[in-house]
Amino acid sequence: MDGPDGPPPFGKHDLFPNQVYNDLAVPHFCPPFGKHDLFPNQVYNDLAVPHFCPPERYAALHTEAFTPRPDDIVVSTFPKSGTTWLQNIVYNLVGCPNGPIVQINKSVPWLQDSLSVKLEDIEKMKGPRVFKTHDYWSWMPEKLRVTARFIYCSRNPKDQAVSYFHHIKTLKKIYGDKCGAMTFSEYFNEIYANKDVAMYGHWEDHNIEWLEQSSRKNIMFVTYEDLKEDTEREIRRIVEFLGLSVDEERITETLKQSGFKHMQKSDNLNYSWVTEGSNNVFVRKGQVGGWVDYLSEEESAYFNEPIKRVNEVGGDVRCSLEQSLLTQ
Ligand code: A3P
Repeated sequence: MDGPDGPPPFGKHDLFPNQVYNDLAVPHFCPPFGKHDLFPNQVYNDLAVPHFCPPERYAALHTEAFTPRPDDIVVSTFPKSGTTWLQNIVYNLVGCPNGPIVQINKSVPWLQDSLSVKLEDIEKMKGPRVFKTHDYWSWMPEKLRVTARFIYCSRNPKDQAVSYFHHIKTLKKIYGDKCGAMTFSEYFNEIYANKDVAMYGHWEDHNIEWLEQSSRKNIMFVTYEDLKEDTEREIRRIVEFLGLSVDEERITETLKQSGFKHMQKSDNLNYSWVTEGSNNVFVRKGQVGGWVDYLSEEESAYFNEPIKRVNEVGGDVRCSLEQSLLTQ
C-alpha cells in the first residue's frame, strides 16, 4: 500500500500504519524525534539514526527472527559514501539471485530499515543475500559478524559532507523546510559537526571502528575514490574477495549496470520513489574533489585531525586541495 509519500510505517503491527512511542502504537504521521527535533530520527546507542530504523527492528535482528547465513554479504558505509553504487555492483556480481532490481532497497535490503522490507521477507530471500547497513561494526548482530562477508566503503569526508548536504535538500519531505533551506555552512555547523544531531555521529568514529577490524578475513575495504579511479579493477578485487566464479560477460554487464549515467536515469536505482521528481538528485554528481566549491578554509581544516586519526588506523583518505583540484 505504497502511497505517493512512500510506504507507510508499521512500527508496532501491520494492521494499519503506525509508529511506536513508549511501546504503544501512535499515528503514522507522528514522526519519532528520539534524539532531537530538527528532523525525524530514532536513537540507537545514543546516536541519531533514521526514523525508519526503530529500536524494535534493531532488537529483532539480534533474535531468531533473523537468521544469518554463511553466504550473506553486507555492504557497509557511513552514509553518502557510495552505498547504492556498491549495492548495485555486488548484487549484479552475485547474479541478481532475487531477480532484476525493482528498487535497490528492496533487492538489497537495508537491514535496519523496517519500512522497505520486513524481516520475514528477508528470511525468504534467495542467497547469496546482499544487505546494506550504515551501522557501526559493534552494532551488527553477533552471529552475522561471524558468518557474513562485509565490504566497507569509505569516502573522503569533505565530499561525503557535501553529498549529505544535498541529500537533505533532496529529501526535504523527510528533513523538512528548515533543513532544506540551510546554507552549506549552517548545515555543517548545526548538523554535520554536531554529534548530538548528525545521523550516525561522526565520520571518523565510524571509519575507525570498522578499520580496527581490518585483521578479520571477512571484511574487505574499498574507497569511493578507488572505485572512481578504476571501477573494473575494484570490481575484480570484490570478485576475488567473495570467491565468485564469474565470466567476463558478468563483469562487463556489472560495469554497464553500475555506470553513473545509467544509475542516474534508472528509476530502480535513483531513489525517485522518495525524492521530489524533477528535483531528483540522489545520484547527483558522482565526483571526487567537488568539496572545493563548498567548504571554507576553516571547514576544510576541521577535517585535518579526523583524517589523521583515520589514516593512523589504516585508512586511505585522499582529499588534499591539490589532489581535489586535479580530480574534480
Ligand atoms: P554525490 O552526492 O557526491 O554525487 P550513498 O549511496 O551512500 O547515499 O552515496 C551517494 C553518492 O554516491 C552520491 O554522491 C552519488 O552521486 C554517488 N554515486 C551513486 N552512484 C554512483 C556511480 N555509479 N558512480 C559514481 N558515484 C555514484
